[in-house]
Amino acid sequence: MSFQGKHVWITGASTGIGRALAKKLDADGALVSVSARSEEKLQTLESEGQNIRAFPLDVTDQETVNATIDMVAAQAPIDYVVLGAGAWTIMDSDQMEIGPIRTGMEVNYFGTINAVHKLIPMMKERHAGHISIIASVAGYRGLPRSVAYSPTKAALINLAEILKVELEPHNIGVSIINPGFVDTPLTQDNPFPMPGIITPEQAADAIYKALAKGKFEISFPFGFTLLMKVLRVAPNWLYLFVMRRIKASI
Ligand SMILES: NC(=O)c1ccc[n+]([C@@H]2O[C@H](COP(=O)([O-])OP(=O)(O)OC[C@H]3O[C@@H](n4cnc5c(N)ncnc54)[C@H](OP(=O)(O)O)[C@@H]3O)[C@@H](O)[C@H]2O)c1
Repeated sequence: MSFQGKHVWITGASTGIGRALAKKLDADGALVSVSARSEEKLQTLESEGQNIRAFPLDVTDQETVNATIDMVAAQAPIDYVVLGAGAWTIMDSDQMEIGPIRTGMEVNYFGTINAVHKLIPMMKERHAGHISIIASVAGYRGLPRSVAYSPTKAALINLAEILKVELEPHNIGVSIINPGFVDTPLTQDNPFPMPGIITPEQAADAIYKALAKGKFEISFPFGFTLLMKVLRVAPNWLYLFVMRRIKASI
């Protein structure tokens, strides 16, 4: 399948995975609407593409999200949405700060909710559309030093499972994207090893292929995410044993 002629809206597109995906879809002939807070970066992206349009927004502002989606849809009906705006702050439970924890939930979870709340009725009316949410393998189970992140991604995976089943009768597709480590501004200051880390372009390729195939879960890279999937279904005693070792090493 090609995305030629399709209209895709991507949030979190000013840098990293979202930016690389916008470029990939643009090269494939899609109309790509891109959003994030950094207006300048979005305009640069627009100027580099054939058919990329910038729509700056803060996903935590519900009114702006509503108005932006109206503007994006006014160009052409939205066929695919990739909700990737995300915030990550490294945090241990013994150094808890409510501010970044709240920001994590506001951007990652409520930012997604703001968008799907507006999009679902629009897509239902058209009896068409696809919503793809970027979560993380960090949402499979609780990870050390991820108090401000892992729970937000668990919530998104749970949300996508609900939406998948409930929106199917309306011919609306839903997918969940669970990356391992990707080399982006989000991870650049991580002080721990990141096994299997890939480039944003490799991540974009994997998302592109899996979206085209209509897969529910899109996870990559294969080796690292397989390990995380095994840990996801491991018994608690084994999972906690592995996590204690990881906690001691990072
Ligand atoms: N990199 C990884 O290893 C990794 C692994 C698993 C999952 N993920 C997820 O993948 C997604 C993309 O992350 P990335 O790695 O590509 O990192 P990134 O380059 O830092 O991208 C994050 C994007 O979110 C946007 N953003 C942040 N807060 C926002 C807000 N309030 N409103 C609108 N946009 C906002 C940022 O743009 P502005 O600052 O311009 O707003 C940026 O475009 C995130 O959801 C992240 O959690 C990443």
